[in-house]
Amino acid sequence: MGAAAWRWVLRLSRFSGRGGGALAVLRHPAGSGVRAASSSGSASSGSRDDVLQDRRTRIQSRGLPKQKPIEGVKQVLVVASGKGGVGKSTTAVNIALALAANDSAKAVGLLDADIYGPSIPKMMNLKGNPELTPKNLMRPLKNYGISCMSMGFLIEETALAVWTGLKVMSAVEKLLRQVDWGELDYLVIDMPPGTGDVQLSISQNIPIAGAVIISTPQDVALLDARKGTEMFRKVHVPVLGLVQNMSVFQCPKCKHETHIFGADGVRDLAKTLGLDVLGDIPLHVNIRETCDSGQPVVISQPQSDAAKAYLKIAVEIVKRLPAPPA
Ligand SMILES: Nc1ncnc2c1ncn2[C@@H]1O[C@H](COP(=O)(O)OP(=O)(O)OP(=O)(O)O)[C@@H](O)[C@H]1O
Ligand SMILES: [Mg+2]
Repeated sequence: MGAAAWRWVLRLSRFSGRGGGALAVLRHPAGSGVRAASSSGSASSGSRDDVLQDRRTRIQSRGLPKQKPIEGVKQVLVVASGKGGVGKSTTAVNIALALAANDSAKAVGLLDADIYGPSIPKMMNLKGNPELTPKNLMRPLKNYGISCMSMGFLIEETALAVWTGLKVMSAVEKLLRQVDWGELDYLVIDMPPGTGDVQLSISQNIPIAGAVIISTPQDVALLDARKGTEMFRKVHVPVLGLVQNMSVFQCPKCKHETHIFGADGVRDLAKTLGLDVLGDIPLHVNIRETCDSGQPVVISQPQSDAAKAYLKIAVEIVKRLPAPPA
């Protein structure tokens, strides 16, 4: 491994404390580093190869995180994108509501993993501090039947903006391990933008049933959506499919349709990646307004085309999830 790569590993190891989390993924290159040494010709004998193979396996298995399920949660679904501002939170909120609306027997939770910019409190019209259970776990706040947890319930957003990486990672750990969700069929996690430590840490610390990648059809968003997909694949999180957001705007007066961010970019990307498009969500003022007012469209306008788009995506998601644990 080159000097730059080592510096990167050392820098991340300061975040990941016990050697899990983000560092674990970076240990895979250590394996390939050993492989490179072996193929350079310095280890020609079979026994030397065996020693190197053994060392590589040990390094890799040490680096593999021990995934632990979240207590009481049957299936975790992450909503991610790569790029910021493409509609992850809006989609996560409406998908959580749609999962519950499609099957009233299902208990659904929503975890806001965006530590710097939590959106769930506003979109779900929730504020206040969670109560503590006798076991000192935080009890989620609930609205529209969905149990929600967010750093926004715990700390002023302006204070969160200046948090260091270490604090962010410890907050993520708390959100994953110190919440009493009760019994949930689905926990939807609204990811922050990017493919950084938070995404890796979540992907490696808990078993994830599936990731849903949100993108607009424009090139810069697609590039990041591709990176996001590749990151999940690297850490063996099944990607259920892509959602194309804001692909079409229909003028409310003349009904003319405009593809402001492009028409079919997500469809093309899905083909390249061998994935399905789970659905299209139009660019519509009601989607924005209802989320801003804390009454997401699936709950406040269930008969609208926008709500129907989310309800259909939830059906597509459930079709692709593995059978839940009994
Ligand atoms: N289909 C849509 N139609 C209209 N507005 C939308 C749509 N999807 C999202 N929006 C709006 O776009 C803005 C960004 O959406 P959102 O906050 O969900 O994105 P995000 O990907 O979670 O952003 P961030 O990366 O900052 O977390 C919000 O104002 C939201 O209301
Ligand atoms: Mg968001």
